[in-house]
Amino acid sequence: MMISRPSNPVRRRSAAAATAVAITALLAALTGCGGVSGEGNSLVAGKEAFIAKCGSCHTLNRAGTKGLTGPNLDEAFQQSLKDGFGRDTVQGIVYQQILFPNRNGVMQAKIAEGDLALEIAHYVADVAAKPGKDVGALGDVGRVTQKPLATAKDGVLVMPADPGGQLLYTFKNAVSTAGPLVINTPNKSQTPHNIAIDGSGANATGKVVVGGGTSTISVTVAGGKYDFFCTVPGHREAGMEGVLTVK
Ligand code: HEC
Repeated sequence: MMISRPSNPVRRRSAAAATAVAITALLAALTGCGGVSGEGNSLVAGKEAFIAKCGSCHTLNRAGTKGLTGPNLDEAFQQSLKDGFGRDTVQGIVYQQILFPNRNGVMQAKIAEGDLALEIAHYVADVAAKPGKDVGALGDVGRVTQKPLATAKDGVLVMPADPGGQLLYTFKNAVSTAGPLVINTPNKSQTPHNIAIDGSGANATGKVVVGGGTSTISVTVAGGKYDFFCTVPGHREAGMEGVLTVK
């Protein structure tokens, strides 16, 4: 399910851009923009925080995030960048959005504050609508290696959510033998997730958990294929699903 959003982010953008220009100078002062030492570190911190705090709602290609609740941030800034607004302006817009999101909107105010908000804005502005991939230390952040297959043992299947907050389980698919099956989804990330299953005669939805909780379901499975997925809106669509094959 997609949540409705302003239909013309580009038009909103130019209004926002005007305001943002005003705080760009402030930002430059705060970040010491333009030849800061440690800029790479700040980008790494910004990317980590973006994935953990923003990626569940926003798609941003270089961050590898696939959230669908809010606007795609590559698309959101493509036009303003083409129109000649600099990336420092984009940084100002993102920073402002983090601190002062739409009051009646879905995005909570102050998900990040202070330096962290600046670092996130810095990272987003640096990579939005930029083709290719992050490299070096930045390229290592949030790299997800989804393993192909989880195997149930003694009637228990462990299907962890990505600890970094990406919309994925750490395994693509799963196998088990027929009979009673408990599926546990530990979730170390700050992004809410659960585990649910749907197939012939086995339908169950576990509770949504964050920050170290475990979502659990108990079902009885027979030979065949079952879909498992996260029911938090937008997560299954973004790829948080797989197939359990029962032999
Ligand atoms: C719970 C989902 C959610 C989270 C988490 C979230 N956002 Fe948003 N964001 C939205 C939605 C929905 C919008 C659309 C407008 C609104 O509701 O404010 C939005 C709008 C935006 C915009 C404006 C884009 C445009 O086209 O106008 C930016 C920039 C943005 N978010 C950045 C971030 C950053 C950075 C973070 C993390 C600190 C973040 N968002 C976290 C849902 C989210």
